[in-house]
Amino acid sequence: MSDLTFLAISGSLRRSSHNTGLLRAVQNLAPHGVTIDLYEGLGRLPFFNEDLEDGPEPAAVADLCRRVREADGILIATPEYNSAIPGVLMNALDWLSRPTGMHALCHKPVAVLGASPSQFGTARGQLVLRQILHRIQAPVVAHPEVTVFQSHRRFDADGAFNGDPVTEGLLRDLLAELAVLAELHSPAHAL
Ligand SMILES: Cc1cc2nc3c(=O)[nH]c(=O)nc-3n(C[C@H](O)[C@H](O)[C@H](O)COP(=O)(O)O)c2cc1C
Repeated sequence: MSDLTFLAISGSLRRSSHNTGLLRAVQNLAPHGVTIDLYEGLGRLPFFNEDLEDGPEPAAVADLCRRVREADGILIATPEYNSAIPGVLMNALDWLSRPTGMHALCHKPVAVLGASPSQFGTARGQLVLRQILHRIQAPVVAHPEVTVFQSHRRFDADGAFNGDPVTEGLLRDLLAELAVLAELHSPAHAL
């Protein structure tokens, strides 16, 4: 397996976010040869507005799109808001879906995961996210589905993961599957 770089995007701006904590845990579980960078610019993105597409690309948008293009795969940890995904994450996905056909997420392998204090662990939000990613032609890891339920039992008040071994096993499996998908979609594989 060649060396791979993944970009991890949390859909939460909250300081002690369980979803950001989940991605920090994933960083610590990266197998040999895999580097995982955490994207922390979600809150700096302007609201998507088609009028902005007529002018110079906003710097925060250019940075996000460049980092997504350069990555071999993307991890998106989403909170569940009102049985869907947070607006800040949807805003980023809207930017990443433009211009259609040449957008940064086009054919970019993605793994989704999420944490919620509820019994469902973002299952409904992840379904919404998968549907959006399907629409914008990003191949998504099908299995495992990492729905971290009762997250308040697995993260402390600062959002640090407690090392629950079942969750860790799922995260390792998810990373392995994303690596397989990333290899399949790598330019070298296409030759
Ligand atoms: C506007 C809003 C809507 C929410 N809706 C849901 C929901 O539909 N399902 C759910 O499980 N949790 C819901 N929650 C609770 C979040 O899952 C919880 O705040 C979670 O910790 C957010 O993720 P974070 O810790 O990464 O910020 C909602 C929270 C907010 C602020």
